[in-house]
Amino acid sequence: MRSFVIGGAGFIGSHLVERLVERGPVTVFDNLTVGKREFLGSLLTEADRTPDNPQSHGTLARVRLVVADALDFPTLQEAMRGHDIVFHLAANPEARWGLERSRLDLEQGTLATYNALEAARLAGVQRFVLASSGTVYGNTPEPCAEQDLGNLPISLYGASKLAGEALVSAYVECFGLRACILRFGNVVGPRGTHGAILDFCNKLHAHPEYLDVLGDGRQSKPYVYVTDCTKGLLYVVDHAPEALAVYNLAPPDSTSVRRLAELCVASSPFPNARIEFGSTPQGWPGDVPTSRLIAQKLAALGFTLAHSSDEAVAKAVKDIAHQVFVSGVS
Ligand SMILES: NC(=O)c1ccc[n+]([C@@H]2O[C@H](COP(=O)([O-])OP(=O)(O)OC[C@H]3O[C@@H](n4cnc5c(N)ncnc54)[C@H](O)[C@@H]3O)[C@@H](O)[C@H]2O)c1
Repeated sequence: MRSFVIGGAGFIGSHLVERLVERGPVTVFDNLTVGKREFLGSLLTEADRTPDNPQSHGTLARVRLVVADALDFPTLQEAMRGHDIVFHLAANPEARWGLERSRLDLEQGTLATYNALEAARLAGVQRFVLASSGTVYGNTPEPCAEQDLGNLPISLYGASKLAGEALVSAYVECFGLRACILRFGNVVGPRGTHGAILDFCNKLHAHPEYLDVLGDGRQSKPYVYVTDCTKGLLYVVDHAPEALAVYNLAPPDSTSVRRLAELCVASSPFPNARIEFGSTPQGWPGDVPTSRLIAQKLAALGFTLAHSSDEAVAKAVKDIAHQVFVSGVS
């Protein structure tokens, strides 16, 4: 299987690439705005690990890295030729950035997804995978299954994910593509590039006396350990029978932001830091305070996540605390 991974040098993407190389050659297409060459580690040759090689093509062992932007359509289309499957994981990394730059999710989400689909169509790639998110369910306190799209998204990030899903559906119907859409919970683990755990550890690193938390700490989300995420994603790719396969990928439980903050403080070199919570139920406008996903469809297909949300968080806090406080990587 010749895989093409847009956003493959990022957090989830680099873990996915580690699994994909077991199946055949992989091309990573990433603008490295968030992703890093180091995340691909020994999978790349020396030449591709050298930062002064901005247009790095070729000279790769099993992973070829193309440093370019998904909004550069000609480059994307050219690079995609000769592959069997496209994994599209590039996106605006922080939902709340949309508050400051309201075009960000339109460009990095919706337009980049359109480009990925259109490039796949023109390059004759038959299979497509979209990394989507539970934010498509909007502010719905009850657990959501795949068909529960009653409430519309409340963030520009969620809106761009839903728009991307709609485009995938249309490409499946109009152009005969086979596609998988995975709606992830909050994914956590080593090499995390964003999210509450990294935020908290970075804040504590910067000022060890206190940790200020956005929102009242009662926000609660399902957390997915990154290896469960990549295994589950590939399980759907391998086993889903539908031409358009839409699956939630999250454990059934959820973990509160208060719990995250307490664990981060306890795992930091500053266990006496005081935690200061905000007063609002949301962390920021567009934040879904309480979210739960039902992944029974995935279970019925035969895949069960190895970690609960609490277990994923406990493990990821250790990973990220080590990353920030020991390795000094923020
Ligand atoms: N991490 C989570 O909790 C989570 C939850 C739900 C959905 N998702 C989705 O999963 C995907 C991967 O998330 P992640 O956490 O690994 O994020 P990430 O930011 O670590 O990875 C995204 C990668 O895409 C690259 N990228 C961004 N815009 C690009 C562009 N225009 N052209 C080329 N490359 C570009 C970045 O450099 C980065 O390497 C995203 O689509 C995200 O929305 C993530």
